[in-house]
Amino acid sequence: MSKPGIKVFAPASVANVAVGFDILGFALERPGDEIIVREGTKPGLHITDIRGAGGRLSYDVQKNTAGYSAWRLLESLGETQRPIEMEIHKKMPFGSGLGSSAASAAGGVFAVSEFLRTGLSKHEILRFAVEGEQLADGAFHADNVGPSLLGGMVLIRDNQTLDFKKLHVPHGLCVAVIYPHIEILTRESRGILKREVPFADVIIQSGNLGAFVAAMYTSDFDLIRRSLRDVLVEPQRAHLIPHFYNMKELALGAGALGFSISGAGPSMFALCDNTAKAEAVIEAAEKLYKTHKISINTYFSKINQEGAIRF
Ligand code: HSE
Repeated sequence: MSKPGIKVFAPASVANVAVGFDILGFALERPGDEIIVREGTKPGLHITDIRGAGGRLSYDVQKNTAGYSAWRLLESLGETQRPIEMEIHKKMPFGSGLGSSAASAAGGVFAVSEFLRTGLSKHEILRFAVEGEQLADGAFHADNVGPSLLGGMVLIRDNQTLDFKKLHVPHGLCVAVIYPHIEILTRESRGILKREVPFADVIIQSGNLGAFVAAMYTSDFDLIRRSLRDVLVEPQRAHLIPHFYNMKELALGAGALGFSISGAGPSMFALCDNTAKAEAVIEAAEKLYKTHKISINTYFSKINQEGAIRF
């Protein structure tokens, strides 16, 4: 019989949030991944079980986002020989745009830190989680890992130093998420992006990002509505998502404050100022995609302020 361990949950997240490519993201209440960590029987960190991944994840700690983030923490503590077993229960889809690999990376390092009672804050282990996620998409950015670990709406001022700020979230802000069952790999979705964008568009995007942050602090829903407009990335990725513009029109028609692509897609999100509007968006999505015979999952969520938790 295996020894009792500790269990953590790390939530899915929505990155970019229309106006903050690579620098803005928020955590959802669900779905998310579960990681179990317990004392092992042989030296070192070993992944002993992976469920819900359909054989797609490596048991090699150095090639697994949850394993690697935890291993980097152990390395920093000089504890790589400590006998630890890790189980990964994937409870969310791959390539969905909901930060699946980030949830695993955040969960992995958080679970081991809790298990060892390191006393390190989430802020202090964030870098290891970002390094874990980097295994999956090749780039170093915390817009999924940050919210998944820390919770809330996280603005990353600088991805290199991981200087971030958890933004104030107005009461009532909620989200409808639509996940059409196609897979988009972040690496590929990043690969199609132009390296250079028009100066005029950068000015528009900067205005929208600044105004969005101000609107969050002043609970100004009308300013959120005017700000949530992505002129840089959404136009380059929308074609990857079936019926994106149709869905956007329906969501805005149902009263959403804004609608865009979640992370690298194909999931989409609609920020709303009340539950009824988010439910109306979900209803519209179910009708639209049913007509086109595309199966979807939908999620309603508040902004999850807790991030990774032990349960
Ligand atoms: N900011 C990232 C992107 C999120 O859109 O490519 C997905 O990792």
